Amino acid sequence: MEANLEKEIVLSAIQPTGTPTLGNYLGALKNWKEMSADYTCYYAVADLHSITVRPEPKDLRRRTLEMYALLLALGLDPEQNTVFVQSHVPAHAQLAWILNCYTQFGEAARMTQFKDKSEKHPENVNVGLFAYPTLMAADILLYQAHYVPIGADQKQHLEITRDIAERFNGLYGETFRIPAPFIGKAGARVMSLQDPTKKMSKSDTNVKAFISVLDDKDTIVRKIKSAVTDSEARVYYGEGKDGVNNLMGIYACCTGKTNAQIEAEFSGKGYGDFKAAVAEAVVAELAPVKEAFDRLMADKAYLNECMQKGAQKASYVAEKTLRKAMRRVGFYQL
Ligand code: TYM
Repeated sequence: MEANLEKEIVLSAIQPTGTPTLGNYLGALKNWKEMSADYTCYYAVADLHSITVRPEPKDLRRRTLEMYALLLALGLDPEQNTVFVQSHVPAHAQLAWILNCYTQFGEAARMTQFKDKSEKHPENVNVGLFAYPTLMAADILLYQAHYVPIGADQKQHLEITRDIAERFNGLYGETFRIPAPFIGKAGARVMSLQDPTKKMSKSDTNVKAFISVLDDKDTIVRKIKSAVTDSEARVYYGEGKDGVNNLMGIYACCTGKTNAQIEAEFSGKGYGDFKAAVAEAVVAELAPVKEAFDRLMADKAYLNECMQKGAQKASYVAEKTLRKAMRRVGFYQL
């Protein structure tokens, strides 16, 4: 614990909206695990965020537990890291309210995720969806995070977080650390296997478009085999080769190889060989996660205990920042 005081701070979160995809994994979760060796890390299951789409209560409960188990299955040590569920730490919702009052309507309305989601679901454009980024800002600022590992799609939310924090600090003096995004080079944007111009998403209606981190070997092989490529049958990174570029990105992320090395490896070979190698690399990457997940899900008591401890550790830190912000704003202190 003492040694951790010197380390820089990392925070990230993932919504329990379904089993994460290979995109979530390569874009964010893999980095979470890697960063946990060198940073003091706070990782949350963002259940408050996930109710903007009104899930069934029983699904929300189950997915929260599953997502928590999955975070531990990645190999995140719950003693060394603080792994918790967002709604177990009330400070998140409390700070989010305060930050709402330091965020302009216009700047929240510019968020592309808000625009996309309100276009896709015009029947449920709720205020929560609109205020989503201020809750995300609260998540990050409460822990005084230096870095936030995310995929490219969340970058704009990090920018607004920085703007809000700078505004608040400008008005009241240093209160929040200004966080920086951490976006890995490969894997920042894993694309759909069926339409490689769209990001891979767990809510895609075509299940062949995404790989779930809990898919079994045969499913992974089948999905990668049927991934959309092009008619050129040559493996190289280039314009107009979105499908191949995407598979190369996935392969690079799983194996640590560069594009040049991949091109050399498959020179003179067709897409069949290439796809088989990509599938094998993905299976090797995900199999241990699935195995650990199945083991953890069989021990709910242990998961509950970890959640409880995580919530306590997170609350201790979050409360400190919340009290400071409230003092600054002028709330009457008892
Ligand atoms: P969420 O739950 O949609 O996704 C979790 C993480 O996965 C990344 N990601 C991807 N990366 C690469 N390729 C893809 N196709 C892909 N799809 C998703 C996301 O960028 C994200 O990093 N708002 C966040 C959750 C959140 C959060 C936070 C994140 C709540 N509070 C505080 C960081 C800090 C979200 O919806 O992520």
